Amino acid sequence: MKNDNLTIRKLDVGYIGAMLDIQEEVIAALPNPDLLRRNTYQTLEVCFLPPSLVLGAFDGDKFVGFGILYIAGEDSENLAYSLDSHGDLCEYANVKLVIVREGYRGNGLQRRFVKLFEEYSKNAGIKVLLSTVSPLNGYSSRNLEMSGFKVVKELKKYGGKERYLYYKNIE
Ligand SMILES: CC(C)(COP(=O)(O)OP(=O)(O)OC[C@H]1O[C@@H](n2cnc3c(N)ncnc32)[C@H](O)[C@@H]1OP(=O)(O)O)[C@@H](O)C(=O)NCCC(=O)NCCS
Repeated sequence: MKNDNLTIRKLDVGYIGAMLDIQEEVIAALPNPDLLRRNTYQTLEVCFLPPSLVLGAFDGDKFVGFGILYIAGEDSENLAYSLDSHGDLCEYANVKLVIVREGYRGNGLQRRFVKLFEEYSKNAGIKVLLSTVSPLNGYSSRNLEMSGFKVVKELKKYGGKERYLYYKNIE
């Protein structure tokens, strides 16, 4: 549904419950369960530790979607480890997850989140944005490609699920 009044703002940990609710709503409607990895309270909680950034989209007070930029540093979740070679781990950020509730899709929210993550990352000294997307997830792939990302590898992640590794240099 087209909606010109959607706003985006930074979230705090108090939103984790509502994020899990949106995640369950969206997973229940997925055409293929391999499209999305289910996050837990704990895997979301770490994404609120600075310098990572979690943004939410709102229609008035209604919470309609979210985006997560995870800056993992030396943590094993850093997607830089999946590259053939990498520089300083602190220079990589992961566009970890964007979810928009079904009735609010088609407003370019994923691209808006990615643009905000890129601006924020540049200010935080990040040089490369990375993201993994299922080859079956045409909507997300299209949005990353429109945002300047390129596929650099095909990976098996999260217990054998196929993922494209997307890369964007933002230096
Ligand atoms: C990926 C996602 C965030 C994109 O949402 P978005 O930013 O609102 O998408 P866009 O604005 O680019 O939508 C473009 C068009 O595709 C349609 N579309 C987007 N996602 C769709 C989906 N999952 N199923 C069907 N149609 C979809 C939109 O309705 C719109 O159609 P329109 O041009 O006729 O209005 C959203 O599909 C989603 O939450 N998917 C489930 C979670 C997921 O896969 N996240 C990405 C994992 S990294």
